[in-house]
Amino acid sequence: MRNGGAEKKRDLKGGLGWVLSYVQPYRHVFIPSVIALFVTAALSLAFPYFLKDLVGDPADAWKHGVDAVATRDRADRIILWLLGILAVQSFIAFWRVKGFTWAGEAALNDLRRDLFAHLLKLPVPFFQEQRSGSLSNRVSADLGVVRETLLTTLPQMARHSVILLGSLVMIFVFSWKLSLVMLASVPVVVLAVAISGRKVRQHSRDAQEALAESGTVIEESVQGIADVKAFSNEAFEKARYDRALDRFFGVTLRGANARAAFLSFVIFAMFGTIGGVAWFGSHMLASGEIDQKSFTAFVLFSVFVGASLGSLPEIVSQVQAMSGATERLRELMAEAPEPSGSMVAGKLSGELAFDGVVFRYPSRPEAPVLHGLSFTAQPGERVALVGPSGAGKSTVFSLILGFNRPESGHLLFDGRDAADLELASLRSQIAVVPQEVMLFGGSIRENIEYGRPGAGVEEIEAAARQANAHDFIVALPEGYDTVVGPRGVKLSGGQRQRVAIARAILADPRILLLDEATSALDTESERLVNEALERLMAGRTSLVIAHRLSTVRDADRILVINHGRLVESGNHDELMARQGTYRLLVETQLA
Ligand SMILES: Nc1ncnc2c1ncn2[C@@H]1O[C@H](COP(=O)(O)OP(=O)(O)OP(=O)(O)O)[C@@H](O)[C@H]1O
Ligand SMILES: [Mg+2]
Repeated sequence: MRNGGAEKKRDLKGGLGWVLSYVQPYRHVFIPSVIALFVTAALSLAFPYFLKDLVGDPADAWKHGVDAVATRDRADRIILWLLGILAVQSFIAFWRVKGFTWAGEAALNDLRRDLFAHLLKLPVPFFQEQRSGSLSNRVSADLGVVRETLLTTLPQMARHSVILLGSLVMIFVFSWKLSLVMLASVPVVVLAVAISGRKVRQHSRDAQEALAESGTVIEESVQGIADVKAFSNEAFEKARYDRALDRFFGVTLRGANARAAFLSFVIFAMFGTIGGVAWFGSHMLASGEIDQKSFTAFVLFSVFVGASLGSLPEIVSQVQAMSGATERLRELMAEAPEPSGSMVAGKLSGELAFDGVVFRYPSRPEAPVLHGLSFTAQPGERVALVGPSGAGKSTVFSLILGFNRPESGHLLFDGRDAADLELASLRSQIAVVPQEVMLFGGSIRENIEYGRPGAGVEEIEAAARQANAHDFIVALPEGYDTVVGPRGVKLSGGQRQRVAIARAILADPRILLLDEATSALDTESERLVNEALERLMAGRTSLVIAHRLSTVRDADRILVINHGRLVESGNHDELMARQGTYRLLVETQLA
């Protein structure tokens, strides 16, 4: 896809078209702003035009004698004209900048919204396959490039093309011969743009990626700061960041070579041309082929042509960068959303069955995780999953939640295949209390409300009471309004768990997935958590990944999973009598 020149051109246009399609709804402001831009650009051409009259023609003066008063009057008149034009230009420019910013930022916000909405729809494996930091860093870097292009480069491009065209017309009017001398340099510059453009684009794509990578290092270090410090790995992280920065530096330098070579070449060509024009023009002046005024005007407009041409490389490289950025953003938008059935689940009874489920993670196709797992949980039943580490217990949860789909076999909710059910209607009846509770960066109230957005204050407090969380919450200085960090750092493990339980109680699910914390809580905290869990599990189908003997003892049924297979099932006493895997687990692992 990235080989053919024609393909590349389509990408470039496609990318711009894609961005402009977001501007479309704001065209009633955007188009007038573009027109205003053209007008102000055209007005700036008035400057060289009037300046030429200000400078005047010495030959004229020499022929007709110098009339000081007339010269002064003429100068006054010209300056007044110039000031008038300047005033009009500034006035238009003010509205133009405002309009551009408004339309551009509004369009960009729509684009950001669309991107985020799409990201939220993508399947969980998509996120597991990438480092989370690199995805968000890359998206924000790419959005930055699109923003820069839309708000700065496109207006610049429009302005320069008007100035370039207008100036070219003017210089032709003043002297077509001189124009030809000057224009001899244009193909050279255009060729240079064409040659270096591709290089610059590749380099800027690499640079973006390298920069995103260094951002990822920061993000990972900050996220895992406790581990970084606990292992005294600051030096390791610094070295990792250094390497990423070095790579970025190297890529940027290589890009700089292409750009510097290009720029110095353009400058050389530009000044060479101006020199050539001056030389040729002075000869034409001497032979009377051109008058002083025309020559002055010509040189002034030539400077405009030169300035416009000189800005070309920056514009081209920015447009190239945008094309790389939009390419990546559109790839992201093209990622297929999570598959979902169309049947609304309705109110579930809570019956849940695995029927010959075979599963492997897409990222590790060589290692099957579940080998034909079958079991049924009755409505309201309390089922404990036990098994050694890596047996596939968490994988069972991720299949129930529809994060992953079985390769073969079926998941059945009330006898209906999960693949046919609408994901949202299914998930809304399942709640999870994870092993490591992560709270969002908001108040405790908001964190509980997350279980059922829109729940009232009383409902939230009732859920917190049931979860044994109310007392510790009101004891906090700001009560329910206490802001907990993104990882709930201000709360203890047991407190965080009770907040998560309150969240699940509020959600009022039919099916409860509970990944018991492995970390030991003190007895008081454990009593509070267990009491809360009892209340939460009452009347719901509960699957508990158990790490504590007390939990498995109370379970209606225990499923022993090993290497992705169900090896034993029954209650505690039955399984202990069997002298099998379960008994071994109880004796060695469950405390
Ligand atoms: N996202 C993933 N991508 C690839 N392989 C995975 C992924 N998650 C888990 N696995 C692999 O699948 C197997 C089962 O993992 P799972 O997390 O289900 O084990 P578990 O029984 O929950 O173990 P533990 O008790 O340690 O939590 C393991 O071999 C693990 O390496
Ligand atoms: Mg697990």
